Amino acid sequence: MSQKNGNTDNQYTFKIFRFNPDVDREPYYDTFISGFPRGTTVLEALLHIQETMDDSIAFRFSCRSAVCGSCGMLVNGAPVLACRTQLMALTGDQVLIEPLPNMDIIKDMVVDMKPFWDAYLRVEPWLHVNEEDTPEKEYLQSPDEVRKLDPYINCILCACCYGSCPVLGFEENYLGPAAIAKLFRFMSDSRDRRGAKFLEKVNSPQGLWACHTIFRCIDACPKDIRPTDTIEALRRKLVVYRFKKFFHLLKQDQK
Ligand code: SF4
Ligand code: SF4
Ligand code: FES
Repeated sequence: MSQKNGNTDNQYTFKIFRFNPDVDREPYYDTFISGFPRGTTVLEALLHIQETMDDSIAFRFSCRSAVCGSCGMLVNGAPVLACRTQLMALTGDQVLIEPLPNMDIIKDMVVDMKPFWDAYLRVEPWLHVNEEDTPEKEYLQSPDEVRKLDPYINCILCACCYGSCPVLGFEENYLGPAAIAKLFRFMSDSRDRRGAKFLEKVNSPQGLWACHTIFRCIDACPKDIRPTDTIEALRRKLVVYRFKKFFHLLKQDQK
């Protein structure tokens, strides 16, 4: 552990996770003490530390305004966007910064998001349309149809929910909350034609049924998306679909 001094304003002590799998046998923490004015975000503090004290610290960021989804990390144990989290909003003057869990570490706070993206692709996150009813011009949707999607289209794919999910800690093939919320978003779209049959693809112990309904993903989401609700809604839809299918088959057998 090293200790390095910075400057002025409200003093904070940053304990920052460090791990470079190419050279380190074990993760360790570096401590930095620095002062920052009111309104400073965790990302700004990290950038300052990187620029003035240790330029080897690795973390992702881009937009600095809660849009790109790059800066998800654990701050004092909570999965957050570093660019949207102000130091003064934290309790006390100790700031523990760690990478999001459930993904391998590439370096420091930079994690390998491949499992997250693989899960995302498994739900085919695009509109499924029929050639026959493709309109000549644009698809039209009523305001009500658009309002139905509104709570879900704000997902910025930051993986904060993925990092918060305890199930992913022991079931690495679980689809995870973000992918399922995205599937719900497309299946709720009046333009999508995939139908409830598509849910057979996620009808597995690693799919819809892996969730233990612990709600951590809801707490973690910086965009107020409620993945657990979408998991429950898709489970209900799947059960109704299976029931109808079974009933239909029974009737066919009886003919
Ligand atoms: S509600 Fe389900 S998906 Fe969300 S964190 Fe809990 S187990 Fe994971
Ligand atoms: S659902 Fe929320 S927490 Fe999960 S990836 Fe989307 S924006 Fe991030
Ligand atoms: S830097 Fe883009 S969301 Fe934080």
